[in-house]
Amino acid sequence: MSTNASPSSVGAARRAAAEPLQEHLASLLAACKPGFALPGAFFTDERLYAAEIEYIFGRHWLFVACEAEIPEGGDYRTFQIGPWPIFILRRDDGSIAAFHNTCRHRGSRILQQDSGIAGATLQCPYHRWTYDLEGRVIGCGATGEAPAAQRRLKPVHLRTLAGLIFVCLADEPPADFDDMRERMTPYLAPHALARAKVAKQVDVIEHGNWKLTIENNRECFHCAGHPELLCSLFDFFGELDVERMSAQERATYARYQSARPVQEAIWARAGLPWQEIEQLHGRPTAFRTERLVLDGAGESMTPDTRVASRRLLGDLKESRLGTLHFHTQPNAWFHFLSDHALTFATLPLERGRTLVRSTWLVHADAQEGRDYDLEKLTSVWNATNAQDAAFVEETQRGASSPAYEPGPIAASEYMVKLFHVWYEERLRAELRL
Ligand code: FES
Ligand SMILES: [Fe+2]
Repeated sequence: MSTNASPSSVGAARRAAAEPLQEHLASLLAACKPGFALPGAFFTDERLYAAEIEYIFGRHWLFVACEAEIPEGGDYRTFQIGPWPIFILRRDDGSIAAFHNTCRHRGSRILQQDSGIAGATLQCPYHRWTYDLEGRVIGCGATGEAPAAQRRLKPVHLRTLAGLIFVCLADEPPADFDDMRERMTPYLAPHALARAKVAKQVDVIEHGNWKLTIENNRECFHCAGHPELLCSLFDFFGELDVERMSAQERATYARYQSARPVQEAIWARAGLPWQEIEQLHGRPTAFRTERLVLDGAGESMTPDTRVASRRLLGDLKESRLGTLHFHTQPNAWFHFLSDHALTFATLPLERGRTLVRSTWLVHADAQEGRDYDLEKLTSVWNATNAQDAAFVEETQRGASSPAYEPGPIAASEYMVKLFHVWYEERLRAELRL
């Protein structure tokens, strides 16, 4: 039998496996150089990945779905977050709850489809224990036992923010969600996600570690690889050095500079806040928002930069609103436009496999074919997602090489650096490193 591992690397791997977790993570974090990409172990180390699932995904607020995905009483969606199967459910009174999807009898998953309609009760298919929509056991199937009223489905913390649903698996979730909600509601509410419907949802599996998915989203240094997206998106982030721009970049920058005051006047007239809020570290529920000017007609992220849906969201009257960009650590990003909204939820599936779920929302009254064209609505981000999946996969492969050495992060990639700051802060805080 042949093996690629040298005796010394086998020895190092054995020593790492025997190290207490705290020491192991502390030594990995000590190898990070501020302002540089993460070392390869951050994308390949199974113990680190398990710790991230427990301490990052198990203890922070995660965006999982929009309220529009469960519009009617009884509607549910299931999710697998690391080892935890959970579901969210809308009750008949309109309230939304989240529970662990683990039966209180012998543990089977109760709801076994990705989504569906639960009806007035939930029944575990294995031995037919039955639960009400508060999670209480109301029947124990054919065993004839009395309902074990003291047993109920374990709840999962859930909060909504202007139609977006977040869950947290921790016993005590971070309290700073409320601050984010308070600050973000004036930005998001005018887009009226509660009165929107799902036009399309697409799952892409990226063959890379979840941090590569997030890093890739936090910079636009790579956006030359997104020709469809650049029809509308101005890729100017962080400090700009106009002197070093190419002639083409300067022309784009000139368009941006002339569009900006026009757009600000429109936002002001529409009463929409646009100022940047950047809270990317120093707190568990880190986030960032900014309303962005778009190129061309400035209306939407479509091939011709004009709205894809003539029925605008909520009560919006103005088509040219650019895009409200919003992202949350550790797993989501969003675009809110005049005619549609886009949500992106990522969940790690394995150390080197990550789910990216994209959802396009339009006004609930908008009709496909009459008010919007689905291809026009979705083509830019379908192309962009495929390009990003390739960037992530190739980085996972390249950065997994023993020959990989982290390179410097550019000024325009400063949000990648701030993601690293947050990530290290959260691991150190949760593991008391
Ligand atoms: S495991 Fe659910 S009823 Fe037995
Ligand atoms: Fe990208």
